[in-house]
Amino acid sequence: MAIEQTFSIIKPNAMKKNVIGKIVDKFESADLKIAGMKIMQISEDLAKEFYAEHKERPFFGELVSFMTSAPVAVMVLQGENAITRNREIMGATNPAEAAEGTIRKLYGDSVGENAVHGSDSPDSAKREIQLFFESSEILNT
Ligand code: CDP
Ligand code: MG
Repeated sequence: MAIEQTFSIIKPNAMKKNVIGKIVDKFESADLKIAGMKIMQISEDLAKEFYAEHKERPFFGELVSFMTSAPVAVMVLQGENAITRNREIMGATNPAEAAEGTIRKLYGDSVGENAVHGSDSPDSAKREIQLFFESSEILNT
């Protein structure tokens, strides 16, 4: 299995809980390396571009306003099979359905305010990393 990079966001509701360290520990404990990380405020334009695949969904407006409501932490995670393994560590989209010990089970509040984002495929990972990071901000592989 190849080393992959994937994109992660600690969403505003989790930032307010002051659990950046606890979330990063979940990744590092699973042997995923933090290859890039910064705290930022997402603009409305960036949120709309990032979630463009969902623009026709009924929750799109609420999602954009939540993601721009407060700062987030964005990360590039790197490791063996990182894309799929990050999704497993995050848990199901709806925290009520997420497995015990997953980030969304621990820190998610609702299907919308579900604590973290993680890329769902190699193409998404590439697109999302490029949207948020310059190559100079990411560790060399
Ligand atoms: O984030 P994930 O890939 O697990 O789920 P998604 O289906 O790609 O949806 C993107 C995001 O939209 C979710 O993480 C939720 O924050 C939000 N969402 C929502 O507010 N209501 C839904 N019914 C589904 C998703
Ligand atoms: Mg998704």
